[in-house]
Amino acid sequence: MCGIVGYIGSKPAVDILLEGLTNLEYRGYDSAGIAVEVDNKVELYKAEGKLQNLKDIVNKNYTHIAKSTIGIGHIRWATHGVPNTVNAHPHSCNCGRVAVVHNGIIENYKELKAKLEKQGCTFRSQTDTETVAHLVASEYAKCGDLTEAVRLATKQIEGAYALCVIHQDVKDTIVATRRNAPLLVGIGEKEYYVASDVPAIIQYTKKAMYLDDNQIVTLTPDSMKLIDIENNSLEQKIEHLPWEPIALSKMGYKHFMLKEIHEQPDVVRNVLSGKLRAIDEPVCLKEVTLDREKLKKLNRIQIVACGTSLHAALVGKYIIEDFCGIAVDVEPSSEYIYRRTITDENTLVIGVSQSGETADTITAVRLAKKKGSHILIVTNRPDSTMAREADSLVPVNAGIEVSVAATKSYMAQLISFYLLAIYMAEVKESIAKEKLEELKHELIILPQKIEKVLSHKENIQACAKKFSGSKDFVFIARGINYPTALEGALKLKEISYINATGYPAGELKHGPIAMLDESMPVLSILMSGKVYEKILSNSEEAKARNARMIALTDSTDPKLNELFDSTIRVPEICELLSPALAVVPLQLLAYYIAEFLGKDVDQPRNLAKSVTVE
Ligand code: F6R
Repeated sequence: MCGIVGYIGSKPAVDILLEGLTNLEYRGYDSAGIAVEVDNKVELYKAEGKLQNLKDIVNKNYTHIAKSTIGIGHIRWATHGVPNTVNAHPHSCNCGRVAVVHNGIIENYKELKAKLEKQGCTFRSQTDTETVAHLVASEYAKCGDLTEAVRLATKQIEGAYALCVIHQDVKDTIVATRRNAPLLVGIGEKEYYVASDVPAIIQYTKKAMYLDDNQIVTLTPDSMKLIDIENNSLEQKIEHLPWEPIALSKMGYKHFMLKEIHEQPDVVRNVLSGKLRAIDEPVCLKEVTLDREKLKKLNRIQIVACGTSLHAALVGKYIIEDFCGIAVDVEPSSEYIYRRTITDENTLVIGVSQSGETADTITAVRLAKKKGSHILIVTNRPDSTMAREADSLVPVNAGIEVSVAATKSYMAQLISFYLLAIYMAEVKESIAKEKLEELKHELIILPQKIEKVLSHKENIQACAKKFSGSKDFVFIARGINYPTALEGALKLKEISYINATGYPAGELKHGPIAMLDESMPVLSILMSGKVYEKILSNSEEAKARNARMIALTDSTDPKLNELFDSTIRVPEICELLSPALAVVPLQLLAYYIAEFLGKDVDQPRNLAKSVTVE
């Protein structure tokens, strides 16, 4: 959600902070700020709006600010308090000696604030974070040690936090800590970096230490000390970051979203690599640690996820039920929690998340874990908080996804579900070998089919231009492509702000059809298979209400030209795998519509890439 960066070493901190914030900008961006120590004083620079506004302020004072070799920075996605300069981080105490940046939510901030006000603290902002600055200052005044002050402060805090703190009286020191929000330390030569996510630091170092909940790290230019909240010294586990800085370049594309859509053929190849070796060999999913006998006896699976990951889960339900005959329930994580959820040790619970940091999904899988379920996590971030909850961890290997709108990670999740369903079907021997071999063959040739769609974009661009003036959009489909309709609608909403809804085509006549008239485009996902004729009939019903009809199809039937005003064609594909192909033109359609409308494609308003609050 928000992003944190910190630096301590011998280089101008400001350059590293601004570069790091630029690479985190996709996480949230309604205001930003930095705190640096210059001439023995902590100085704050903050600005509302895009990061460029902060850069403009910094540039005016650059020579002065660049003297500092220690600093912390933050990019904010507002939770408590409107996005403005006062509410932007870093926050400070009465005397301005402490500076704090924070991701997460301090749940008991009202009680803490009341207590601190009684002690004479004056609050300037409406944020929960400011309580931490006052709390640390107050504890420091008593103990005279910054690490101890942070430790005592965190003992009083309830909620989620990743925190970075500096204090004017404690030269060349950053103290950082976390609970239920990600934070890592990058290790250089006599320098350290702190970040809420890898993109902020990957161009400087690949050596890092991830903090666990309730750990506190104290950094100076030549030392790193790690303790827990009870003040016990801890061993430092240094890891090698498996990312390349190149992932943060647009590689000549106008937007990250377009680049990431084009990466999908390779993403499919990556996900299949080493797991699907030949069509007559069983899928190899060593990551699934659930005992084969237990797997055979499973009679229920629950999948929890949010947004685009939820749509991938819905496709997963369809294929697992079809291949394995196991009942699968899919639920938005936020609905799974805070009710009597029926799950036990005989239920497999799958959490799906690109970021692995989505708070609702983390809470949901923790709940299921407490009830004894085997937890299988499908994530693009094996280094994430959710991954640490996994009994089985299935990494999806899509590479860093920068665009807020998920595209390649969705593709990777879909392919992971195909592999998982085939793996389970092979263990259970629940489906004919020939059917599995046909699907494996289709999976292997899928990248070429996606490449074909990507090399014939003109039709999609023309369609985008034609319909970019529409205020509303309806996407219809049935069966395994109903989630594709939901995903197409979500992509369009997210980046163009056009009101778009995905419906099961058969549901249209039960209410939504009342909305249709000559101003409403209806996009029918008409992929060959069981429900093709049914969707065709539902499209006729929409056409009879004068809707503007668009077909997305792998059929070459010339009759479609009479029914549809525009047709987007994709190569023929088997029905079971069709969601992985049909989604690509919908991503492109959303992209080009947003482009025509001049929207900020990679950083749509109000959104954040990883949603670390419930
Ligand atoms: C849509 C999108 C969001 C995420 C959702 C879950 O393009 O990006 O809907 O899919 O916030 O995020 P993860 O997958 O990180 O749990």
